[in-house]
Amino acid sequence: MGDRILVFYGSYRRDRMGIRLADFLVKNLRTRGADVEFIDAKAVDLPMLDRMYKEYAPGTAPAAMEQLAGKIKAADAFVFVTGEYNWGIQPGLKNLTDHYLEEWYWRPAAIASYSAGRFSGVRSGTAWHHTLSEMGMVVISSTLAVGPIAKTLDADGEPTGEAGAALAKAFPRFADDLAWWTEAAREQRRRRAPPY
Ligand SMILES: Cc1cc2nc3c(=O)[nH]c(=O)nc-3n(C[C@H](O)[C@H](O)[C@H](O)COP(=O)(O)O)c2cc1C
Repeated sequence: MGDRILVFYGSYRRDRMGIRLADFLVKNLRTRGADVEFIDAKAVDLPMLDRMYKEYAPGTAPAAMEQLAGKIKAADAFVFVTGEYNWGIQPGLKNLTDHYLEEWYWRPAAIASYSAGRFSGVRSGTAWHHTLSEMGMVVISSTLAVGPIAKTLDADGEPTGEAGAALAKAFPRFADDLAWWTEAAREQRRRRAPPY
């Protein structure tokens, strides 16, 4: 079976655009044979952080939180689709990730940022790099930076025009980098149990 990859996206806006990039990534990772699940923070809709998942007694966490914990623990790798609000990260996705900590450990993560303009959300991508490292993920160095998103991907997540062609060209290296670290981390977890 292919690498089990969770693709996270966290805009709650009704007119959200980043869903195009999430769709593109899910489709193209699946084409490469990965076992991909899309995790839409808006659909999961965890409450604003009160208790972290681990602060609930076993079996008492809300069902959506429990279910997502199982998926995170079972995954081989993560992809974060990160939009930028006022030079920072989107609150919906940050709220979701903060509910977990140890559940994220010992797996690689990749960041794909986007925005409405030419800067492609890179400031949010940079901020997420620190956050994901703090949460025990190994953040790969390859990134995707997509902007303007409306001129790069159509409503079905298909690349359009010159910007779309550049994204399609950049994707294989991003995916290869993630696949290499995914295999390395899985192999090491098999060889030796994580120290904590
Ligand atoms: C509250 C807010 C703040 C924004 N701040 C930035 C910003 O700092 N830099 C940027 O490039 N785009 C910014 N934008 C434009 C977003 O890149 C654009 O709206 C994008 O589509 C947001 O992602 P979403 O549609 O998936 O929610 C902002 C948009 C909103 C709604």
